[in-house]
Amino acid sequence: MRHPLVMGNWKLNGNKRMVNDLISALRNKLSNVVGCNIAIAPPVIYLDLAKYHLGNSRIALGAQNVDIHISGAYTGEVSTQMLKDIGAKYIIIGHSERRAYHKESNELIAEKFAVLKEAELIPVLCIGESKAENEAGKTEAVCAHQIDVVLNKLDAKAFESALIAYEPIWAIGTGKAATPVQAQAVHKFIRSHIAKYDAAIAERVIIQYGGSVNADNAVELFTQPDIDGALVGGASLNADTFSVIVKAAAEAKQT
Ligand code: PGA
Repeated sequence: MRHPLVMGNWKLNGNKRMVNDLISALRNKLSNVVGCNIAIAPPVIYLDLAKYHLGNSRIALGAQNVDIHISGAYTGEVSTQMLKDIGAKYIIIGHSERRAYHKESNELIAEKFAVLKEAELIPVLCIGESKAENEAGKTEAVCAHQIDVVLNKLDAKAFESALIAYEPIWAIGTGKAATPVQAQAVHKFIRSHIAKYDAAIAERVIIQYGGSVNADNAVELFTQPDIDGALVGGASLNADTFSVIVKAAAEAKQT
């Protein structure tokens, strides 16, 4: 059975005080949760501090991005080795905000996937369609293509220890999540698409949903058979809300 992962993507939010307060609240509220993996991805400048505050808790450290280079003259970048060095585990790549604001291509994202695998870090590959693509009935084609670029560079085995986050762009930060039925249909498609390459890997790969997940819609989303947790943005900045979402995932997958 797949173990869900609920991961908080803090995006460009926080300060030293918040890192301390939010993590200690999460440690309190989530110490007894079993059946769901948990991670947080603070801004890169706070990763080390976050790791310190996470201590020996079972909340893992994630990061929001990585460069494809290991070292050298690449001003402003952060490498896989640095992320490993400070104890990060799950690394988000291909987030729609990086695709849009930093012009990241599918090819660059596939390279990031490859360097993460090389470093034995776990990629969280974000995919998803825009509103226009959704309305034009292109959701499946867009998602398939975003995955194929990785599959063509590596192969299906690369998804052995990697996650996919299906995040419809129109649902991110809008308060309008995909309905559980809509999301389930796309997750099922994604799994069946990977199954064309490797059925066993497809069965095991964790596919998170992301886009306006909150305390009210979490249960319904997580009870869908192909939704394995979530990548949570805004709602991950509040310890109460994030904890409710984590617990919803843990319970949904136990029953
Ligand atoms: P949101 O963001 O939960 O604020 O919609 C999700 C994401 O971008 O990962």
